[in-house]
Amino acid sequence: MIALVTGANRGIGREVARQLAEAGHTVLLTARSEAAARAAAGEIGPRAQPLRLDVTSGEDVAAVARRVGGEFGALDVLVNNAAITYDTWQRASTADLDVVREAAETNLYGPWRLTQALLPLLRAGAHPRVVNVSSEAASLTNMGGGTPAYTASKTALNALTRMLAAELRPHGILVNAVCPGWVATDLGGPGGRPVREGARGVVWAATLPDDGPTGGFYRDGRPLPW
Ligand SMILES: NC(=O)c1ccc[n+]([C@@H]2O[C@H](COP(=O)([O-])OP(=O)(O)OC[C@H]3O[C@@H](n4cnc5c(N)ncnc54)[C@H](OP(=O)(O)O)[C@@H]3O)[C@@H](O)[C@H]2O)c1
Repeated sequence: MIALVTGANRGIGREVARQLAEAGHTVLLTARSEAAARAAAGEIGPRAQPLRLDVTSGEDVAAVARRVGGEFGALDVLVNNAAITYDTWQRASTADLDVVREAAETNLYGPWRLTQALLPLLRAGAHPRVVNVSSEAASLTNMGGGTPAYTASKTALNALTRMLAAELRPHGILVNAVCPGWVATDLGGPGGRPVREGARGVVWAATLPDDGPTGGFYRDGRPLPW
C-alpha cells in the first residue's frame, strides 16, 4: 500500500507518516522543504520516501503526481494534513481578508488541487482513502466568532469532503474529515494531547476497511457534529 502525507516534516503529519510506515505502508513523506522531508523520512526509516511538495504550488502538485504515477502507478491513501493560520488574534467581524485568503490557499485549495491531481492514481489504488485533516473549530453546530481564517477554511474543507465522498462513493474511494483533537504541536501550542494520540484517528480513517464509512467527520473514530 502506498500512502502520501502532506506537511509530514513535523507535528501530526510526521506522526501519521510514522504510524502508517509502522503498519507496513510505503509512505511518501512530503514537505515544502526538501531538506525537512529528507530529515523526517530518515528518522522513520526505509518505508518513508521524502518528496518536496508545497500544496499551494500547482507545479509541485503536478510534479508529485507525475513522480508517483511513474514510480508506483497507483496511490492507496492521501492524507491532506498541511495547514496554517490558527488565527486566535482575529474575530470574524474585523478579520483581515488577505489572511483569510492566504489560509484558504493552503487549507482548502491545497487539498482540493492535490486530490484532483492524484485522483487518477487513487482510482487505480487497491483500497483508496482520502483523509482531510480538519478541526472541530469547523463544526457549524458549535461555531463561535474566533479564528475566522482557520475556521472558514476548515468548514469549506469539510464541505469538500462531503462533495468528494458523494462523487467518489461509486468508485470505492472513501473520503472523510478527521479532527485530531487538541494536540501539542507548533500549531496547537503546549497543553494538548501527545501527537501519537492525535495521529491515531487520522490513521484510522486512512486504513478503513472497504465497507468503512465515507463522507463523515470524526475524532478518534467517533462522529462529530458538522
Ligand atoms: N494541533 C492541534 O491541536 C490541531 C487541532 C485540530 C486540527 N489540527 C490540524 O492538524 C493538522 C496538522 O496540524 P499540526 O498541529 O501538526 O500543525 P504544525 O505542527 O504547524 O504542522 C503543519 C505542517 O503543515 C506544513 N505546511 C504548511 N503550509 C504548507 C504548504 N503550503 N505545503 C505543504 N506543507 C505545508 C508545515 O510545513 P513547514 O514546516 O514547512 O511549515 C508543517 O509540516 C492541520 O490540518 C491542523 O489544522 C491540529
